[in-house]
Amino acid sequence: MSKRRTKFCCQECGYESPKWMGKCPGCNQWNTMVEELEIAKPTRHQTFITSLESLTGGASNKPRVISSIESVQEPRIYTNYKEIDRVLGGGIVPGSLVLIGGDPGIGKSTLLLQISSQLASYHHKVLYISGEESLRQTKLRADRLRINSEKLFVLAETNLAYIEKTIDELSPTFVVIDSIQTVYHPEVQSAPGSVSQVRECTSHFMRLAKTKGVAIFLVGHVTKEGAIAGPRLLEHMVDAVLYFEGERSYTYRILRAVKNRFGSTNEMGIFEMKDDGLQEVLNPSEIFLEERSEGAAGSIVVASMEGTRPVLVEIQALIAPTSFGNPRRMATGIDHNRVSLIMAVLEKRVGLLLGSYDAYLKVAGGIKLDEPAIDLGIAVSIASSFRDQPSNPTDVVFGEVGLTGEIRRVSRVEQRVQEAAKMGFKRAIVPKKNLGGWQIPKGIQVIGVSNVQEALEYTL
Ligand code: TYD
Ligand code: MG
Repeated sequence: MSKRRTKFCCQECGYESPKWMGKCPGCNQWNTMVEELEIAKPTRHQTFITSLESLTGGASNKPRVISSIESVQEPRIYTNYKEIDRVLGGGIVPGSLVLIGGDPGIGKSTLLLQISSQLASYHHKVLYISGEESLRQTKLRADRLRINSEKLFVLAETNLAYIEKTIDELSPTFVVIDSIQTVYHPEVQSAPGSVSQVRECTSHFMRLAKTKGVAIFLVGHVTKEGAIAGPRLLEHMVDAVLYFEGERSYTYRILRAVKNRFGSTNEMGIFEMKDDGLQEVLNPSEIFLEERSEGAAGSIVVASMEGTRPVLVEIQALIAPTSFGNPRRMATGIDHNRVSLIMAVLEKRVGLLLGSYDAYLKVAGGIKLDEPAIDLGIAVSIASSFRDQPSNPTDVVFGEVGLTGEIRRVSRVEQRVQEAAKMGFKRAIVPKKNLGGWQIPKGIQVIGVSNVQEALEYTL
């Protein structure tokens, strides 16, 4: 009998090595190497022949002139959840493999069960496979979400062979695997959730999706300790990767695409977790401004773009004298390097002496902003708190701040201003370079500014 060989595999990044190491050379994480049994691989010659045959399908495969290839529009399956269809790039593509990652308990199973039921109500055959919950638990959840459909099939199974058989027999349009970490390939020796299992099962699902034309959604838990192989490892293997995130203490959840072969990656969908499931938030500006205390120093509203949709969000700053030697700079929802940079600009170009002050910045509502156009909002909120001067509650600002204090042009001004006008704001402070060439909506005054100093004169 041949000797059983083992290898060590990093549970974070998948790096393999014949010997154990404390620190993974692939991702520099500590204590992530775990021993796994190696699967007997066919010899190199066999692999080459079979892969060549499967590639060419037995026939010869010749390069073609690109203009001679007929272009086909990908057909789409609509979930009728606007937020989800937009993030997916216009609906679900048949035969695609999509990974939904997120912290445990954030609402992935809820979201997918709701999508499943929605599709089933449009007469698509849907198979929901749960490896984490029993049928009764899934039923309880479905009752809570008021889901009941003749076209929605549920299966509690973790063996890949059975799963494949069921998909074969049922031939559904849409399959959910909840979660990829619980599924195991009977021929792979290591435990479910280990790197080899997760990788092997995912590539199996990819083949299934492509050969049968069924759309498969995989749920993947994100783990920090690397005890279970995380979705990061699978990103390159699937067609799209969506992250479902949010602060557990807030009820808002954000669905974001980080990879999408069929659409853009800067779209996001916003949901609210209610007692009876997730509800779409079609007008995010409204919720992000809901609890705003008007007339308080250190607060300003910015018009930021999330993908193709403008959202108005409040930025808050608190500037307080430092009690210890080193001033603290803290930011939630914004990159703190950006905050430091803008503080330096304010100090040097506007003359605000912020050196011995702590700065705390926060984006209201628990969302993350990552766009240069919010720079001006950061600058105004810091100056407003430092001078203890409230900004005008009906002002909205946006613009990128350069190192010399200049305000730089940003994209999609018209949409941002339209959103502000729609939400009842009276003035928009925008980059001067952005003026002209677009229609100013009714009921809002637009002011162009060319540097931070000028912007502060208008707003404070
Ligand atoms: P779940 O979908 O089980 O999370 P995941 O699959 O990502 O681990 O969601 C779990 C949380 O959602 C749980 O704490 C309860 C809450 N929840 C609601 O608030 N309302 C609901 O209708 C449902 C089904 C869950
Ligand atoms: Mg779950």
